[in-house]
Amino acid sequence: MFVLGIETSCDETAAAIVTGPGGTRVLCNIIASQNDLHAEYSGVVPEIASRAHAERILPIVRRAIREAGLHLNRIDAVAVGNRPGLIGSLLVGVAAAKALAWSLGKPVIGVDHVRAHLYAGCLSPVSAGEPAPLPALPALGLVVSGGHTSLYRCTSFLDLQRIGATIDDAVGEAYDKVATILGLPFPGGPNLDRLAATGQTRKPGFPIARIAPDSLQFSFSGLKTAAIYAFRGVPETEQVRARRAARGEKIPPNTLLSAADVAATFQEAAIATVILKVERALDQHPDCRTLLVGGGVSANSLLRARLTELAAKRRLDLRLPRMEYCLDNAAMIAGLGAATLENRNMLGDPLSMTAAPTTSV
Ligand code: KG4
Ligand code: ZN
Repeated sequence: MFVLGIETSCDETAAAIVTGPGGTRVLCNIIASQNDLHAEYSGVVPEIASRAHAERILPIVRRAIREAGLHLNRIDAVAVGNRPGLIGSLLVGVAAAKALAWSLGKPVIGVDHVRAHLYAGCLSPVSAGEPAPLPALPALGLVVSGGHTSLYRCTSFLDLQRIGATIDDAVGEAYDKVATILGLPFPGGPNLDRLAATGQTRKPGFPIARIAPDSLQFSFSGLKTAAIYAFRGVPETEQVRARRAARGEKIPPNTLLSAADVAATFQEAAIATVILKVERALDQHPDCRTLLVGGGVSANSLLRARLTELAAKRRLDLRLPRMEYCLDNAAMIAGLGAATLENRNMLGDPLSMTAAPTTSV
């Protein structure tokens, strides 16, 4: 079976084709990033994103078919990321997927992008040989992206129960905002990760939100504020400034950290926050011997290192996606779409299937 996947939920226009049991073998994975279009705004502009998807979707699908060395009529089903995301962007992919599936007389299936991130660790390119068998379940799932920071208990890839989520910023969003303040180019997360490698972690570190002793909720807004103040100084009211001036005081320049040290100290605290909650979740769900991880921040160097140590310490089956499947991609959509169709005897969704801005989990 060959499943074509389409992904347009945010600022990547992507198409991929998967095959094999569970759709885990990736024949091609094409991603057209829109980073250059959004860089001058330091963030994704929804209208620009959907226009770019509309221009690029057909050439990207054609390229995927060509790179897989297939003819379009060999495609057995079309999977599309139909939630969550920017509604105008999602609709471009959904319209293309439905039109293609209808014209081929093949099923179309809508795939939740957040669930698909958790499937990304099961994928490998055909060139890598036989993929590892699907992991044992139940699993603990960790999604760390620009829009989500959540923990799930997964009894199957289709049956997830959310057991924790952020109460304010997502971890990727905090990375992006701090990176902007540090003057790093868009997209901030990977640039901050690189800068952190050149800085020193200052003591005491930035705050790690514990929330409550057994809480699985995340919070990154306090950490973000600490990083901004360490770089720019704590804002003062006019009154405080006047009082300081009257006393002839200045903010001692050495209380401000360099961009590299802020990056290193921020990264240490952000990743420690994630690991703390993963450890708590594992303690609360000891039957989960598999750890599924996905989302853009799973590309982070420190997170990958800390998760690898944790998995070795606790003897877990860690499914960390290959770098090419961490950020938004269509291989994960095609893969989970194929697994879902296998499970449903190839029964797709009705053509009335549409896009939704929120996740189903
Ligand atoms: O999964 P994704 O591509 O899109 C969403 O579904 O949100 O994740 C994008 C997020 C962005 O916030 C980006 O800055 C972050 O992932 N990111 C990273 C790294 N690479 C991407 N954050 C930290 N370190 C990285 N190496
Ligand atoms: Zn994503």
